[in-house]
Amino acid sequence: MGNTSRPVSAGPRGRGSSAGPVRRRFSAAVRLMVALLLAGGVYAFFAPAARAQEEPRLSPAAAEGEALYEVSCITCHGRSAGGVEGRGPSLINVGGASVEFQVGTGRMPLARQEAQAQRKPQLFTDEEVRQLAAYIDSLGVGPVVPDDIGARVEDADLARGGELFRVNCSQCHAFGGGGGALSSGKYAPSLHPASDRIIYAAMLSGPQNMPIFGDNTLTPEQKADIIAYIQRVIQSDHDPGGFNLGRYGPSTEGLAVFLVGIVALVFASLWIAGKS
Ligand code: HEC
Ligand code: HEC
Repeated sequence: MGNTSRPVSAGPRGRGSSAGPVRRRFSAAVRLMVALLLAGGVYAFFAPAARAQEEPRLSPAAAEGEALYEVSCITCHGRSAGGVEGRGPSLINVGGASVEFQVGTGRMPLARQEAQAQRKPQLFTDEEVRQLAAYIDSLGVGPVVPDDIGARVEDADLARGGELFRVNCSQCHAFGGGGGALSSGKYAPSLHPASDRIIYAAMLSGPQNMPIFGDNTLTPEQKADIIAYIQRVIQSDHDPGGFNLGRYGPSTEGLAVFLVGIVALVFASLWIAGKS
């Protein structure tokens, strides 16, 4: 008893009996260490996977877009843009181009249900439009408006643009770009207010009755040529012939010529009748 309580005077036997608890305490610490390391290892092994699931897969711009979406669009297009029966279609896979077209021309957010969404003053800044587009684009695969179209439009070929415009666009938007009526209350709008990104986005997304002009149909260079033609020829044309009759093309012009001609003929026949 005296031996164990006073280790200083312990003999060989006493030392052996006091080394037992020390080794036991030591091995308990080792076991604790091993357990902690194991737990840490197990955590490290599984944690990245768990974090990858939780971590938002959105870029900063797309995250801003998501916040805007949840305030202005979710009532009609639903959570995660899955669509709401009777209110708005799913936006998954429509791509950023469709969002830039719809929101950049003020068509969205939609004010009321009608045959065709109207162009309205834009509700969001250009930056917010791009953020909304980034968010919708992150939800699927779809066409996106490239960033370098300004430069492409700069070196575009106007003559080729005019030719492509007459072949692909004028049957709906008219030769002067004034637009025209289509069936069931729908219409092709005037091309005068559209910016280069909007024209590009329209071709990529094909809204309503407009066909989609994917990059296989019209290459990015051909799209740039068309944009240059619309902006430099159609939009800047100041009606050298005088009154433009709404730029509706042959129907209004024909009507004008018909009315003027009929009046002239009536006066001519009255004049001839008065002579005889
Ligand atoms: C009042 C309901 C309503 C609200 C609010 C609304 N939308 Fe829409 N949206 C619609 C309807 C209906 C259509 C389909 C109509 C059409 O094609 O003209 C549509 C079509 C679209 C399309 C075209 C889809 C396609 O197939 O290419 C896009 C993109 C879009 N909306 C984006 C938005 C965004 C972004 C917002 C919020 C800023 C928004 N919408 C707010 C009802 C709404
Ligand atoms: C079959 C008819 C048709 C053809 C062909 C067509 N469009 Fe359209 N386009 C439309 C319709 C319809 C709309 C309106 C869509 C809406 O309001 O949602 C439209 C809208 C647009 C707009 C948006 C105008 C604005 O600012 O509001 C642009 C720009 C445009 N088209 C460009 C083109 C170009 C460029 C071509 C040729 C490469 C073309 N379109 C060919 C029917 C057509």
